[in-house]
Parts: sequence; C-alpha cells; structure tokens
Amino acid sequence: MNDVIVVGTDGSPDADAAIAWAAADAARKELRLELVHVIERGPYDLPRYPVPGLLEVLGEAAEAMLAEKVSRVMAGWPSVEVATRVMAGSAVAELRKQAESATELVVGSRGRGGFASALLGSVSLGVAGHAHGTVVVVRSAPVERGQLVVGLSESDSSEPALAHAFAEASLRRVPLRAVYAYAVPIHVVSLDPDRLRRAQREFARDRLAPWWEKHPEVNVIVDVTSVHPVAALTEASRDADLLVVGNRGHGGMAAAVLGSVSHGVLHHAYCPVAVVRCQ
Ligand SMILES: Nc1ncnc2c1ncn2[C@@H]1O[C@H](COP(=O)(O)OP(=O)(O)OP(=O)(O)O)[C@@H](O)[C@H]1O
Ligand SMILES: [Mg+2]
Repeated sequence: MNDVIVVGTDGSPDADAAIAWAAADAARKELRLELVHVIERGPYDLPRYPVPGLLEVLGEAAEAMLAEKVSRVMAGWPSVEVATRVMAGSAVAELRKQAESATELVVGSRGRGGFASALLGSVSLGVAGHAHGTVVVVRSAPVERGQLVVGLSESDSSEPALAHAFAEASLRRVPLRAVYAYAVPIHVVSLDPDRLRRAQREFARDRLAPWWEKHPEVNVIVDVTSVHPVAALTEASRDADLLVVGNRGHGGMAAAVLGSVSHGVLHHAYCPVAVVRCQ
C-alpha cells in the first residue's frame, strides 16, 4: 500500500512546487504519485443558502485543474505513474487520512487563501507533524544544491528523523549535514566554552555513530553550534535540497504535536522541509 506519494494541491503556485518536488522524489524512489484536491465546501455551501449543483461544478473545475497538473508531471517525469483524487470535506482531515497509507504527504507552504504576508497556511500547518507519516512542505520550485540537512535533537525519540535523513542522503548520494545547536545554560556561564563545545561535539558524534555504521556510504558533516536551533537550521537550509526534522524534540509542552523548532523552520527554511513523525 505504501508505494505512493500523495500531494495536496489547491492549484496554487506553492502547490505546483510541491507537485514538482514530489514527482522528482517519486521518480527517484520508483513510487506512484497521487494528486489530491479537497473541495472545502464550508465557505461556499452555507446550509441556509444552498446552491443546487455547486458540488458538481466545483468537482468539474477540480478535475480540470488536476488534469492540467497530470500533463505537466507526464511531460517532466515520464517514468512516474500519476493518478488523481477529488474529495469533499476538510483539507486537513482528508489529507491526514490520505497520509496514513502513503510513503509521504507533500504540500506547498502556502496556498490560494490566507494573508499575503503569512509564511505558512493552515493546511500545511495542520498536516506537518500531525499526519501519520512524513510530511514534506515545499516553498518554491526545487533547486539541486547537493546537500541534505538534519536537525539533531537531544532526545532518542528523534531517531526516525535520523533514519529518514540517512536513507535520503544515501539514495541521493549527497553529503548530510547534521546540525546540533545547543543553548548555553545561564547558570554555567563560568564553564570553559571550549570544553563545553567539545562535550557537545562528542554528544553529537555519539548520537550519529549507529547511523554512520549503518550507512558508511554517507558523507556526514557534523555541525555543532551554540546559536538557536531555528537560526542554525534556517541558515543551513540555504545550501540544502531538503531539511529533515522530527515533529518534536525533548523540550516544550508534552501535548504539542509540533515542537517549536519544527514549527520555526517550517516558517523560515529556504528549502523543502520534511517533518518526520517521531512520537
Ligand atoms: N483544498 C485543498 N486540497 C488539497 N490540498 C490543499 C488544499 N488546500 C491547501 N492544500 C495544500 O496545502 C498547501 C498550503 O495551503 P494552505 O491552505 O495551508 O495555505 P493558504 O491557502 O495560503 O492559507 P489558508 O488556507 O490557511 O488561508 C497548498 O500548497 C497545498 O499543497
Ligand atoms: Mg488555503
């Protein structure tokens, strides 16, 4: 069942970038592609003022929009088998459902609605970290820069994110930059900063060691820094094809499904972000 990459599209330019990213990934992984559009009836279909035949009209428009996207995929990635699906309901709920039986769910960071200056829409934010599997959020047309980045967190629970990052780097045959950003606790300002840096570097290497053994073919760059993780990952994303993070790290509210670092990089990263569901 999990041999398909699902892309959500509302016909927007960001969703087009998501389709292009997903098509390239489907070609690389030899997976099928499914383009999904959810007709969100709420804004148009007020129960007190029903418009007869509205769903049919919206359905036809959706089919036409998807047909145009399919022909673009077929032209650009002829090896990829591509199908479409039109559904009615809540885009977040339906896309989350689709993600359950997919290898990954891919969406644009913005869509057709929302405030002009918002960096992330409600659908992308509603699926990233919340869906069953990995969600990739794409901001602009993919550019090949030849490096992947993974954010290293202090907790073991981020192992699925590391697994994903190493597998991707191996498949793409590109180096993997593992970024570990640590905060200097205020009560240890008297600590020797060099010793602290060495200890943090050792910690990062220990966390990576089992994955290094499993994927000796991957060239890993260990990047340990004492700036804020969102700033460090955002900066690293400038030179990356994909930034991989877990849905949450060890800190913050236990109830939050999306941690503050993942949330922050989704807003600011310069490259597509894969949020891997870890817990
Ligand atoms: N109705 C939909 N059906 C399928 N995918 C969708 C739909 N709406 C949005 N998406 C996906 O989610 C991405 C982000 O769109 P989103 O709706 O979150 O942003 P927005 O329209 O700018 O803001 P908002 O809808 O919150 O006002 C899109 O690029 C697309 O991939
Ligand atoms: Mg929208």
